[in-house]
Amino acid sequence: MESKLRQNIVSAASDTAESPYSKAVTGFKNYWYPVLPERLLGSKPKRMVLLGEPLALIKRNNSVYAIQDECPHRGARMSLGKDEFPGTNTIACRFHGWTFNLATGSCVAALTEGPSSNVVGKVRIRTFPAETRKGIIFVWMGKGSPVPLEEDIPALILTPESKIKVRFRQVYGNWRQHAEGSAGGHFFMLHRDSIALLYHELGAYNAISLAQLQEHDPVDKRPYLLETNSDYVWQDDYPTLGNWPPKRLWRFSRPPRRRGARGTSTVVQGIKHIGISLPGFLRVPHFPQNNAVYYEWYIAIDSHHYLYMQISAHFPKNIFQRIWGTLWYNIWAGPIRKGRFNNQDKGVVRDGTEFEDRMGVHRPTSLFQPDIFPLMWIEMCNEYARGEGWRVSDTSPEWREVDSKIPIYLEKDDSSS
Ligand code: FES
Ligand SMILES: [Fe+2]
Repeated sequence: MESKLRQNIVSAASDTAESPYSKAVTGFKNYWYPVLPERLLGSKPKRMVLLGEPLALIKRNNSVYAIQDECPHRGARMSLGKDEFPGTNTIACRFHGWTFNLATGSCVAALTEGPSSNVVGKVRIRTFPAETRKGIIFVWMGKGSPVPLEEDIPALILTPESKIKVRFRQVYGNWRQHAEGSAGGHFFMLHRDSIALLYHELGAYNAISLAQLQEHDPVDKRPYLLETNSDYVWQDDYPTLGNWPPKRLWRFSRPPRRRGARGTSTVVQGIKHIGISLPGFLRVPHFPQNNAVYYEWYIAIDSHHYLYMQISAHFPKNIFQRIWGTLWYNIWAGPIRKGRFNNQDKGVVRDGTEFEDRMGVHRPTSLFQPDIFPLMWIEMCNEYARGEGWRVSDTSPEWREVDSKIPIYLEKDDSSS
């Protein structure tokens, strides 16, 4: 076992103040992110801040558009803009009436200067590619051409067979704190007294904490870091202290035995292990209920807030399973597991963020074997983050062709003058 231990004790050697991970205070840009259930976007534009970028989400004629929520003239919020020409897919800024085509971002009128304004055709506002699938709005946050949505969004969410449930919150903390703490040993301690697990007997630790980088996940065709722990230990004797954890009568259920140890539960839809993938989302089989796969994204809003986007995909085989699954989700799995249980994670993200604010950047440690997971996650980001990591990908080269020197609000033809 010792060689295995050594093999898995790594330090985040690639992590320096200049590493892609360290610089990603507000996340990795060149990805599609799930941002909002479409039903929550009405006729009024909605302002969101994601990855430090203010966005206005706008629905027109059953299409969803995302543009920068800052007018290039004087910075007024476009989410306060008006639909002055219904049917034309444009929005007029509330301040002086610069009017933009929502698809191209081109300025098509400056209302308060008259139809022959010089501004027309010379200015554009930044647009963000947006697509709606399975009732969720996804936005590409990069500056180059987007990769196909399917490259970034898990196949089990997009497949017609899955029934999707979404829950999201804006919470306090840096997104990386949640990604780092998403797996790696905390389950036995932090979640022990959660209502969702009160009747479960929980063990003490995994004798071997393993994390494996799977470069090409067979289900999602992308790199995942998998938590592949083994040898579940139910109770152990801690020198000078005694046995832990204590046996409790009310903990009568041993679901890990039925389904395999935590982290090695039986396969659901081809997924066996808990795993994390870029740009920062966790995948958990059999959560929040059996025969479901759960995903949670940590999407930076700014350095101290993030959008906690929880999406679960359930796979009922018939109408009865579908009704039962929905009932179970609405009464138990959603509020108790995706809600209260996950609030425990949210709490320690807050603490970790405040700790870093006071003490400076503080990374996981190779002294503690379960930290193999966050340490390898940091390495994974430094290597694989699209357009920012050190590893060059052969797929979808367009996103690398970004000329960031061109001010985003000027048409390219005008940038030289
Ligand atoms: S600030 Fe938008 S038109 Fe002036
Ligand atoms: Fe957790």
